[in-house]
Amino acid sequence: MPKLTVVEHPLVQHKLTLMRERETSTASFRRLLREISLLLAYEVTREMPMTTRMIETPICPMEAPQIEGKKLALVSILRAGNGLLDGILDLIPAARVGFVGLYRDPDTLQPVQYYFKVPAELGDRVTIVVDPMLATGNSSAKAVSLLKEAGARDIRFLCLLAAPEGIARMQAAHPDVPIVTAAVDSHLDDHGYIVPGLGDAGDRMFGTK
Ligand code: URA
Repeated sequence: MPKLTVVEHPLVQHKLTLMRERETSTASFRRLLREISLLLAYEVTREMPMTTRMIETPICPMEAPQIEGKKLALVSILRAGNGLLDGILDLIPAARVGFVGLYRDPDTLQPVQYYFKVPAELGDRVTIVVDPMLATGNSSAKAVSLLKEAGARDIRFLCLLAAPEGIARMQAAHPDVPIVTAAVDSHLDDHGYIVPGLGDAGDRMFGTK
């Protein structure tokens, strides 16, 4: 997979514009995130190990393709990552799901872990880490480090928006982890928010502000 994939599909870009708008309601934001995450999941799973097996169609036997190996693992970085889960699970209903709880210390912007629960046998699964906003990259890099410690080897990172700073941080810490995003924005502001961005993704999807 390429190291960085920006999904420029018109449906993704149109939905992202609606999500960025200040006046978009919580209900609409959530629905759009679900829709867009399905489209992004399509891209992040574009390259998967494949195998074949014999099946019987109503007409004849055939050697048919299928995804190889164990069910893939989706790992949400709490809490905003959960907004991406439902759409992806619509597309990959058998995926196993894990959670990494990290909050960002408001002063240092460094990640602090408070929860970690992931599927077994991560080493045998494609592992997709999801967080809508790749901002400083500190939480994402930390989450990927924790997953590697837990045995994950084929890790991909899926986000909605990325800042150049976050991409650089992730690529320095984890050059083996491809990143898929809908857009790369300009920069981070002094509070670590992506500019122009869409604000606080967690607050917008859960209506907590
Ligand atoms: N997290 C968010 O929710 N938004 C940003 O812009 C950066 C981090």
